Amino acid sequence: MAQINLTISISGKGGTGKTTFTALLLKYLIQNDFKNILAVDADPAVNLGDVLGIRVINNTIGEIVDKTMDEVEDKSEDYDAPTLLEYKIWESIIKNEDLHFDLLSMGKTSGNKCYCAVNKALVAMLDYLKSFYNIILIDMEAGLEHLSRGTDKNMDILFIVVNPSRMSLNTATTISEILKECHLTFKDVYVIGNKFLTNSDKILEDFCKKINFKYVGSIPYDKDIEKLNFDGKSLLNLSENSNAFKKLEEILNYYTFLAK
Ligand SMILES: Nc1ncnc2c1ncn2[C@@H]1O[C@H](COP(=O)(O)OP(=O)(O)OP(=O)(O)O)[C@@H](O)[C@H]1O
Ligand SMILES: [Mg+2]
Repeated sequence: MAQINLTISISGKGGTGKTTFTALLLKYLIQNDFKNILAVDADPAVNLGDVLGIRVINNTIGEIVDKTMDEVEDKSEDYDAPTLLEYKIWESIIKNEDLHFDLLSMGKTSGNKCYCAVNKALVAMLDYLKSFYNIILIDMEAGLEHLSRGTDKNMDILFIVVNPSRMSLNTATTISEILKECHLTFKDVYVIGNKFLTNSDKILEDFCKKINFKYVGSIPYDKDIEKLNFDGKSLLNLSENSNAFKKLEEILNYYTFLAK
């Protein structure tokens, strides 16, 4: 079977469900036999590992950048920091061979080093890692700096998660403006609703038309997601019969971007 090569970025206002959606998308990919997937936690708060039931200790890009910077400071001027980082990036990737996905967490550097150093490293690393993975999923941090900083450069698909708050729609509008201003192009930009208690498809469809994005549907509020989260269990354990997962399946089966 031919394998696809796809980079998917997940963005949106804080708390809308980006990390949850990333985990459910990963669950869908694993279940549908996609292999060689890299899940990237680009949120310095490092949440994706928790939601996937993976403990991330001393493995973030932030820590690797810290260590590398210290080593470079001790060496001569022509010391090759990017190559050193490329080599070391594999130290920061947590392998999950049984489930065919790996996890990379961005984290943050120690106080005295610039946060952009981590971002710069992440952008370079993502380009490098594309040739090793079929699918890269990136759970972005809540702010929109990642767009202006170019973290999403050369990504294929952008999902924007919105929830029943006007602010989350405003964030989607701001994203559409930033994409134009920064000349960022994605093959597709999809808006996905999450945690709506009443059917808001029509409102979301009309809203998305105005900003020229495609509305793909909504994942309902699901008490099983809440329970797994509260109990600190992996969302990969969510029942396939859960309302949220069934709806996500319906949406992803309909859109052909994952067609192999
Ligand atoms: N469909 C859902 N049903 C029930 N609870 C949900 C659903 N989606 C998300 N949640 C819960 O809402 C909270 C926020 O979700 P999540 O952490 O995925 O948002 P986020 O956008 O990644 O937040 P942040 O901006 O802080 O990274 C979590 O407690 C999560 O378990
Ligand atoms: Mg999150």
